[in-house]
Amino acid sequence: MKRLGLAGTALVPAGTLLTGRSVARAARFGGELTRGDVAILKFLAAVEILESDLWQQYNELALGNESYQLALNVLDGDQATYVNLNTRDEFSHAAFINKYLESKGHKPVSLEHFRTLPSSQAPGSNKSAKRLTNLMQLTVDTSFYFRYRSSLNPDFGANFSQIVNLVNVPGIPNSDLPPPTDPDTGFLVQFIANTAGFHFASIEQGGASLYQSFLPKATSPEVIKIVGAIGGTEIQHYQTWTDKIANAPALTDNNGNIIFPELPAAPDLPNPPDGTDNAGANDTNQIFATPCEFIAQNLPLCSVIRPISTQEAGAAATIAFFRNDGLFIGQSQAFLDLLNELAQEADAVIRESD
Ligand SMILES: [Fe+2]
Ligand SMILES: [Fe+2]
Repeated sequence: MKRLGLAGTALVPAGTLLTGRSVARAARFGGELTRGDVAILKFLAAVEILESDLWQQYNELALGNESYQLALNVLDGDQATYVNLNTRDEFSHAAFINKYLESKGHKPVSLEHFRTLPSSQAPGSNKSAKRLTNLMQLTVDTSFYFRYRSSLNPDFGANFSQIVNLVNVPGIPNSDLPPPTDPDTGFLVQFIANTAGFHFASIEQGGASLYQSFLPKATSPEVIKIVGAIGGTEIQHYQTWTDKIANAPALTDNNGNIIFPELPAAPDLPNPPDGTDNAGANDTNQIFATPCEFIAQNLPLCSVIRPISTQEAGAAATIAFFRNDGLFIGQSQAFLDLLNELAQEADAVIRESD
C-alpha cells in the first residue's frame, strides 16, 4: 500500500474530468428510445451529476489537503487515490448518459442553474466554486453495515440500526486542521475522514441499489446494457469502501469522550483448526453480501444487492436518501421539485414488450 503524494502523477486534474466524447460518435447506436427509457436515463443523469459534484469536493481535499489526505489514508494507504478514481468514474457516468440521451435526440440533463452552495474554505478546496451538494452537515445512514450482514431484506420490510451515529457532521474539513498525528487535536481531522469513509460506502450502496431497481424496467437492450454496466461499477465502489471502513480508528476527544466507536473486529488469527471461522456475523471483515431473502421468502437465501424494490431503492427513495443525508441543505425548493419530478417519472416506468 503506497502513500499518495500531493503532487501524484497518475491523478486526473479536476478540469479534464468533464471532457466527453463527441455526440456524433454515439449517434450511430440503436434506434429510438421509449419514453420510459428516457425517464430512467434522465433520472440517472441527474443522480450522476449530483454524485460528480459531491465526489469532486471530496477529491479536491483528498488530493490537495495534506492533513485530510493523511487521515483518509489511515483507512487505506490508497484511500485518497480511490477517492480520485471514484470521482473520475462519476464524471464519466454523467457525461456518458447525457451524451447518449443527446445522441438519441433528447435534451441532456443540467443542474447548473442550481449550483449555488458554498465551497469548503480549507486549503486544497476550490474555495470560490459553487456546489450542488453540501458535505458540511452530513447525517450518514450507516445501516447498510448491518443490512449487508443480515439474512433479512428491506424489500421484505426489514429495518436496520446504525453502526455509527454520524449526525450533522462534516465529511470534509472547512479550515486548516492539524494532521491526524497531532497529539492534541489530531482526532478532529480523523473524525472527518472516518465520517467520509462511511459516507463513501453509504452513497455508493445507494447507487448500486438504484441501478438494480431500474434494471427490470428498461426496455431497449442498449439501455439495459447501460443500466447494468454502470450499475456494476457502483457496486465495485461500494464493495471497496465497505472494506476500507473496517480501518476507521476509534477516537476520543481531549476529555476522553468517545467520539467514534471501536468497530466489531474479528479476533486475531489463527482461526481454530476445526474448519470454523473466528469472525462474528457483524465483524468488519464480513464484507461480502450475506445471503438474504430474495424474490420470495420460500426460496433459499441468496447473496444479492439489497434493497432493489422501487419503494426502497428507486428514484424517489434515492432523492429522500440524499435529502436525509443532508446533501441538499441550502438547496432551493425548485431544485427538489425538479428532482422529485424526474424521480416520479422514472419510478413509474414499466418495461415495454418488444
Ligand atoms: Fe455513478
Ligand atoms: Fe457512484
